[in-house]
This record gives sequence, C-alpha cells and structure tokens, in this order.
Amino acid sequence: MERLDKLLASQGMLSRREVRELIAAGRVTVEGGVEKRPERKVSGQETIAVDGLPVTVQKTLTLMLHKPRGYVSAARDARDKTVLELVPPQYRRKGLFPAGRLDKDTTGLMILTDDGALAHEILAPKRHVPKRYRVTVDLPLTEEMVTRFAEGIALKDGMCRPARLEILSEHTGIVTLQEGRYHQIKRMFGCCGVAVTALHRLSMGALALDEALAPGECRPITAEEQALLRQQRVPE
Ligand code: URA
Repeated sequence: MERLDKLLASQGMLSRREVRELIAAGRVTVEGGVEKRPERKVSGQETIAVDGLPVTVQKTLTLMLHKPRGYVSAARDARDKTVLELVPPQYRRKGLFPAGRLDKDTTGLMILTDDGALAHEILAPKRHVPKRYRVTVDLPLTEEMVTRFAEGIALKDGMCRPARLEILSEHTGIVTLQEGRYHQIKRMFGCCGVAVTALHRLSMGALALDEALAPGECRPITAEEQALLRQQRVPE
C-alpha cells in the first residue's frame, strides 16, 4: 500500500505538489468518491480518476537516465555517488535498480527500473538486444580493428560475440555490442593496443537516449519506448 499522492506523482505526469493541489481541490476520486486526503493508502488496484478521467496506474516504473561521468551504476556504494542519487524524489521507489552497468567514467543512456522481467529481457545475452556506444580512442582506428571486432575478440574470460565497429573519424567510432561484460569495450580495444578515452552509450535496443535530457537528468519512459527497448534492431 502506498500514499495516494505518492502513487499519482510516481506516474511521471505531475509533481507531488501538483498532485496535492488536485487532491485538495477535490478533483481526485478513489472508487468514485472524492478523496481529499493525500495520505490515503491505495494499492493501485482501485479506480482512481482525475476530473472524472480514470488514471491507469502503472505498477512498475522505468526511467531513462542520461548518466553523467563520476557516478557508479550500483544501487549502493560506500565510496562513490550512485546513479540512484540522481533520481528526483517523485520517482524514488524501493526496488529501483540500474538495468545493466556503465563504468564510472562512461556517460549516456541508462535504464533504471523496478521491473525485473524487463531488465532480464534487455540484458540476457540470448535476447541479442544491441547496445550502441560512441567511443573515442587515443590512436587511429583501423580497418583491421573493424575486422577483429566482427570476428570476435578473445578476452581473458572468453570469446566476445561478433561486434560492429564503424569508424566515424580517426579517433571516434560507433561500437554495437549484443552483450555487456565488465569493461568490455575498453578491454576489446585494449586487445588492439588502443586506449578508450571517452565512452557514451547512445542506445539500447531500438531506444535512443533522449537528447533533451541533460547529463544527470532522467524521465519515465513511455509504453512505446519500452517496446523499442526490447527490440533487436538499432535506432535509425
Ligand atoms: N564497455 C566498457 O568498457 N565500459 C562501459 O561502461 C560499457 C561498455
């Protein structure tokens, strides 16, 4: 059970203050009756309406975060700031966790969710959900590296699946992976004698990072975006 104001605000359309104002104005009903108590406990199964329009309560919450540098993608850390600290209060929930990891110095698209099934779908190697990264390296990229990535690089913990490296300029490229091992891209380039100097995740599945999100900002994703996240193609 959860407070009515918290549940409504967690749906992402309104802030907690806006929700309180609606409730105080008598515009919110629970099971057909006006509810003026923001602290009213609800399970989310009730029929809740605002101005007579039923609100479909989403039981799970999935956020798209533009991860900045300097944050670790763990739920808790004794030393470093975590990506969960970037989540504004209205979206904070028990059980929210990062679906997949990015290194502390990696930036870009992160998904935070309390939906374990969704996280499994996008992360399980068998699902082949592609993750795309823009990478900057210290030495020139070569066609030989493109071939090595495509053939599958041997890391200490086993062979990588074939990956795609597209060269954009001498020092920048796009890498598409269908798996996500520890420091994978850095280690793959390390095998080619090159160091990664910047790494930014552009997309997961067919879902690209919303460019309107500044580093450190997040927002709930829509149902359509959730469907894109599960797709095996990369965004156009
Ligand atoms: N590969 C890496 O080396 N680091 C990341 O953060 C993601 C992929």
